[in-house]
Amino acid sequence: MNAPQHPSASPRPVAVITGASQGIGRFTALGIAESGFQVTVVARSVARGRETVADLAEARGCTVGDGPFDWVAADLSREHEIEEAARELLDRHPRINLLVNNAGLVARKYGSTPEGLERTLVVNHLAPVRLTHALLPALLAAGAAGSPSRTGTSGGARIVILSSGAHAKRLDLTAFEGPRGYSGLHAYAQSKLLNLLHAFDLARVLAGTGVTVNAVHPGLVGTGLLDSFLPEGLVRRALSPVFRLVSKSPEEGARTSIHVATSPEVAGITGRYFVKGVPADPAPAALDPENQQGVRRWTEGLTGIDWGQTPEPEDLPA
Ligand SMILES: NC(=O)c1ccc[n+]([C@@H]2O[C@H](COP(=O)([O-])OP(=O)(O)OC[C@H]3O[C@@H](n4cnc5c(N)ncnc54)[C@H](OP(=O)(O)O)[C@@H]3O)[C@@H](O)[C@H]2O)c1
Repeated sequence: MNAPQHPSASPRPVAVITGASQGIGRFTALGIAESGFQVTVVARSVARGRETVADLAEARGCTVGDGPFDWVAADLSREHEIEEAARELLDRHPRINLLVNNAGLVARKYGSTPEGLERTLVVNHLAPVRLTHALLPALLAAGAAGSPSRTGTSGGARIVILSSGAHAKRLDLTAFEGPRGYSGLHAYAQSKLLNLLHAFDLARVLAGTGVTVNAVHPGLVGTGLLDSFLPEGLVRRALSPVFRLVSKSPEEGARTSIHVATSPEVAGITGRYFVKGVPADPAPAALDPENQQGVRRWTEGLTGIDWGQTPEPEDLPA
């Protein structure tokens, strides 16, 4: 069940964000709301959606019913749940001005999803591809219309994809193949390279449509995800406080995402990788057109989605 707490015809520009229940995403959702957006959180479950929106409303000092937050439920490791949530979002919002693909995970052990694919690959790469593709009609409609002047944004719609400075320097799709020789850290680094390849290739596909696509490295941020890099148990309990000391707070970690999502300075900029609020150079492997084309085809083989194919203008919502 996906329960809207707000009417579909929102007077505010509309943002959709994944992974806003904790960590960087929580503060990104708050920052985006501060910029004037209606923020729909894609939460793992109904219970998580309710909890997250209650928490965000409390942090913003508003009530759930009157605040700028609502939610849809989708476990991002489940293809059909993403499809259902996207249908719900398109029903509510014919135009979506901002999509932040923030949710992510690091796995310590090999695990597969119901479709039999490695979990990091599915949640970190295939889910953003699926959600972005499904919401593209509403993003393109917002891009064609230009964004409302009351927000900090000017000109079109934006897609922001959370990558990482830990992205792999060389593409290795065998990272996701199976439990034999599996390394969760290698799979994570590859998934974050896939985020960049997707972002840069999609930015080229969408050039001239009014929809920009950029990737972000938030810095080293003290979150549950950072703890997942440590083995569970004593080592994690001992080292987690040290990680917290040397890392940014989640609030600080959200700053680059919020900047890329809302700042007028970023209007019209597309196909870039932002670190500490400014464009930076990713590994050359992320810019390689052969890697981008190869990953587009490989992802199509897994999902049936070719992100090079976009809806025709006459098929967009009015
Ligand atoms: N932390 C860092 O130092 C760092 C550095 C570079 C990049 N990043 C990137 O920043 C992004 C956010 O990371 P974070 O550190 O803020 O992580 P986090 O605190 O662990 O938060 C992860 C978020 O993703 C959601 N999520 C995970 N799996 C999901 C699923 N199957 N379905 C729905 N939601 C799911 C979680 O929901 P639940 O609460 O329901 O589990 C949570 O809201 C990630 O893409 C990460 O790769 C982080």
